[in-house]
Amino acid sequence: MYSSFNNWVRLQLNTKASNLMDQYRVFGNPIAQSKSPFIHQQFALQTKQSLNYQSELVELGKFDVAIKSLIATEGKGANVTAPFKEQAFALCDELSERAKLAGAVNTLTFSEGIIYGDTTDGIGLVTDLLNHKVQLRNSRILLLGAGGAAKGVVQSLLEQSPKSLTIANRTLSKAQAIIQHYPDNTISALTFADTEHLTFDVIINATSVGLSGASLPIANQTIKSSVACYDMVYGREQTDFLKQAKNLGVAQVIDGLGMLVGQAAASFQIWTGINPDVDPVLAALRAQLT
Ligand code: ATR
Repeated sequence: MYSSFNNWVRLQLNTKASNLMDQYRVFGNPIAQSKSPFIHQQFALQTKQSLNYQSELVELGKFDVAIKSLIATEGKGANVTAPFKEQAFALCDELSERAKLAGAVNTLTFSEGIIYGDTTDGIGLVTDLLNHKVQLRNSRILLLGAGGAAKGVVQSLLEQSPKSLTIANRTLSKAQAIIQHYPDNTISALTFADTEHLTFDVIINATSVGLSGASLPIANQTIKSSVACYDMVYGREQTDFLKQAKNLGVAQVIDGLGMLVGQAAASFQIWTGINPDVDPVLAALRAQLT
């Protein structure tokens, strides 16, 4: 049964003659810092696509309105960032399997009266790790955090057939709730303290700790045991977690800029069918950061 919102969308998408440039948006709050418009404009130039991609600040509680107005004005798709990923999920008529598992979407596609939802964060993360030659198959992976950022990447990590995927979180119940969705005995949930005497090959920070200035309660010996540490956060300065890992001699410390470009590339491919080259765009963004 469709809601009146979905009926409205179907009517708009079925009756519109497309003679303007395809419109794309990234919706969030805040959004001013978003690099997505730059990334998608670069992808469009590189692949000779004619599209207009802009960021749009959406007032809390007005997400439906923003989607409606985009669809009414030649909107073909949108990226969605915090705090609207769950609301976007709820608006979709159809969802990818990985979006269903994540319970959130970052990519909406408007086509033939239908809103399709997908999540590309996991692809972005895995692609970036593999681009850095980090081995995931048969590896013991520790994922720190159990919020939206962590949820969005679990399925993609499991698809790489790790030996184990351990989700550690300050609030254990949230990590336990995630693993219930995966009938896979390689996945488990722990507290940070539980990880103290364990060793891992790859440690991925999906908490918001890098943003808040607090430090992660992960033992030095646990960090030291890994060959790669990844932080989904990026910035001009290396995060405290990556600095700590580097000081402890971890061979590879990687920030989340490549994940950002990778998730954008996967969205771009969903919309246009073209897989853009991430390397020049990543290099340009890296240069802007330094
Ligand atoms: P996001 O969508 O970015 O993942 P979120 O859903 O608010 O944001 O999740 C934030 C994550 O960072 C959670 O795993 C949170 O732990 P809790 O589930 O226990 O709240 C984690 N986090 C935030 N601040 C933290 C801190 N100071 N120490 C440890 N973990 C923290």
